[in-house]
Amino acid sequence: MGNNFLIWILIFCMFYTVSGEGCSLILKPSRIVVGFGESVTVNCEATRPVRVLGWESAISAVHTQEDRSVQWKVDSLIDWIEEPICYGVFFTAPRQCEEKLNLVLYKSPDSISIRQTNHTGPMVEGKEYQLLCEVQNIAPVQYLTLRWYRGQTEVYQHSFSDLTSSSPVQVSSTLVITPTKAENDADYKCVAELELGPEGPQPPPTLASEPLTVSIYFPPTFLSPETEVVDFTAGAEITFNCTATGNPEPVYSWQSSHLTEEQMKAEPVFTSSSLLPGTYTCTASNMLEKKSKQFIIKEKIKGV
Ligand SMILES: *[C@@H]1O[C@H](CO)[C@@H](O)[C@H](O)[C@H]1NC(C)=O
Ligand SMILES: *[C@@H]1O[C@H](CO)[C@@H](O)[C@H](O)[C@H]1NC(C)=O
Repeated sequence: MGNNFLIWILIFCMFYTVSGEGCSLILKPSRIVVGFGESVTVNCEATRPVRVLGWESAISAVHTQEDRSVQWKVDSLIDWIEEPICYGVFFTAPRQCEEKLNLVLYKSPDSISIRQTNHTGPMVEGKEYQLLCEVQNIAPVQYLTLRWYRGQTEVYQHSFSDLTSSSPVQVSSTLVITPTKAENDADYKCVAELELGPEGPQPPPTLASEPLTVSIYFPPTFLSPETEVVDFTAGAEITFNCTATGNPEPVYSWQSSHLTEEQMKAEPVFTSSSLLPGTYTCTASNMLEKKSKQFIIKEKIKGV
């Protein structure tokens, strides 16, 4: 009989340890965002007479039997502790209740860096490459967003909201790129941003990597690859322009049965007033490819 009575008391107490709605405790503020090493102060207030009121926490635990309010205070928060709980033991039902403080202790990353993973040196147009962004010692990682930029353009965004860790961690993000020649000399960078909500610092703390400049190799490309035909006029100056874009910079050579060795010199633009009718072939080449373009001097047909 006596034992049963105690069990009923126990069950009664279990059911009446409530939190949230119905709990007569108010935390001010109810959510707090604290930078690593900063001070923190939170008040817990009882809205009706209370026997004991206190904070349960790994650091700065405190309780009172006199007041309707108790303060949790840390001068410099550097411990990755569990969220502190305010508890109250009341004279009337519900006899006991508790409120958990929504505490976010954050730390900006020690460093952020970007590099190519499986390759060094220039990239080749149209091939696939991986860039890796590494972030050291950030907390809490679930509030982190890593943004990838090419120049000023955001190209990818990596969220870590599926992770849970209150203490600092190292994370990384991989970007797979297939560069085009237009992206030669583009700067890539990644930026870590901690979005801690309205209670957090505004604007959110960010840290950017040094830019990584990527060189993109691409084959020689003529602006107009079509064969150019000019009419022959004795003594007139003729200019052939074989300029091509390419990376590395193309080197040029000219071939024709009419050209002397001196005239075959490696210039993209060829000017002469003593050229004979015939075909002149220019070759632009770099380590990737060799491209040719033809220039034809056509003899005027007499009588036309
Ligand atoms: C780099 O890795 C990616 C993905 O694993 C692969 O597709 C690509 O061919 C690699 N690039 C080089 C240059 O090895
Ligand atoms: C040759 O062509 C290129 C581009 O096609 C142009 O930039 C350059 O000015 C031209 N050179 C001459 C001498 O016409």
